Order: sequence, then C-alpha cells, then structure tokens
Amino acid sequence: MPRVSLSSPGSSPPYTAPESIRMRPPPVTVPVRVRRAEVSDLDDLVALEESSFAHDRLSRAQYRRHLDSESAQVLVASANHRRFLGTAVVFFRRGSKVARLYSLATKPEARGKGVGSALIEAAEIAARAHRCRSLRLEVRTDNVAAIGIYERLGYTRIGTYPKYYQDGADALRFEKLFA
Ligand SMILES: CC(C)(COP(=O)(O)OP(=O)(O)OC[C@H]1O[C@@H](n2cnc3c(N)ncnc32)[C@H](O)[C@@H]1OP(=O)(O)O)[C@@H](O)C(=O)NCCC(=O)NCCS
Repeated sequence: MPRVSLSSPGSSPPYTAPESIRMRPPPVTVPVRVRRAEVSDLDDLVALEESSFAHDRLSRAQYRRHLDSESAQVLVASANHRRFLGTAVVFFRRGSKVARLYSLATKPEARGKGVGSALIEAAEIAARAHRCRSLRLEVRTDNVAAIGIYERLGYTRIGTYPKYYQDGADALRFEKLFA
C-alpha cells in the first residue's frame, strides 16, 4: 500500500509514493492520506495549533482565510479518511518559484509514525503543482525532531534568521531544490 496519497474529492487520482520512499523500512503503523483542508477541519486545526506551538500561532480566522486563498494550501493528514492526524500549511507567492512550508504539526499521539514526513512529501507535491522549483522553511534551532526529518528528506541548510520567533528564538532556514 502506498504510504501517502494526496487527494481532493472528485479530482486527481491518488498520489503514489516514489519507489525510493516505498522501499524504505516501514516505520508507519497507520495508512496516511493527505488532502486539502475543509471548513469542517477548523476545530481540529486550531486545537492542534494550540497544543503544538506556544508562540507564533495561526488563529482560526487566519486558517479560515487560507482555506479559500490561492496563495496558500492547508493540507490535512488523516487515517481511514476521517481521523485527523496532522497538518501542513504551504504558501505561494505570485511570480515566485519558491514555495514556503509555513507550518507543520502532527497530533502528539500520532507522532513518530510517518505523518509529518507524509505531510512534507505532500507539501512538495503541492509546490511542484504550482510550478515551484523549491520549498523553503524555517525551524527553531532547538527543534531536533523537525530538523532531523528535514535533513532526512533532502533539505539543505541555507541560513539563519536571528531572533525570528516571537519569544526571541533563532530560526534555521532550509530549502529543498526539486530535480
Ligand atoms: C515535527 C513533527 C511535525 C514531526 O511529526 P511526526 O509525525 O512525528 O514525523 P515522522 O513520524 O514523519 O518523523 C519523526 C522523526 O523524528 C524523529 N524524532 C522524533 N522525536 C525526536 C527527537 N526528540 N529527537 C530527534 N529525532 C526525533 C523520529 O525518530 C523520526 O525520524 P525517522 O523517521 O528518521 O525515524 C512533530 O513532532 C510535531 O508536530 N512537533 C510539534 C510542532 C513542530 O515542531 N513542527 C515543526 C515546526 S518547523
């Protein structure tokens, strides 16, 4: 079974992970499906935001706006087509070939099962579909779990933003160039 599918109701066929991903030893205990977020996901999105981030949170109103925006994609990972597991938010800028992974979070009880990786892979698919050449992101310098995933998935460190976060923490900048 493919590890990740990216789908929206009635549109393109499910995404099948490339051979390199499918051949990796399987850490996943739940099949993960990734789709565009809908209004009915707002409660889960806001609850996860509050349980995952102490600062720099997206508000419910911001999530609501991003659902209808052409310059954003809010992705949702779920198990069995229903159970909400996590989210990723990708931003696009008109005229820019660089997409930005703005947010990534997995529900605490679902971490370590490949959900975050599946969301990143889906974010890359969304960026490619927008004809972007790369995906960039910022991450707190002390977020070892997230930094480990980005490095494993081929992201390269491209710089630092000192005092980037509301609490004064520095950010590392990462980028993945698409082939
Ligand atoms: C970062 C986050 C999204 C990862 O989600 P996830 O669903 O657990 O991700 P995956 O299961 O795909 O991968 C987890 C990886 O992190 C590793 N990991 C988990 N905790 C770790 C830790 N404390 N130190 C180092 N590595 C850690 C696991 O070993 C695994 O690596 P592997 O796939 O090479 O074995 C999740 O931890 C989270 O929501 N954190 C809070 C929000 C956050 O920090 N978001 C990122 C902002 S840039």
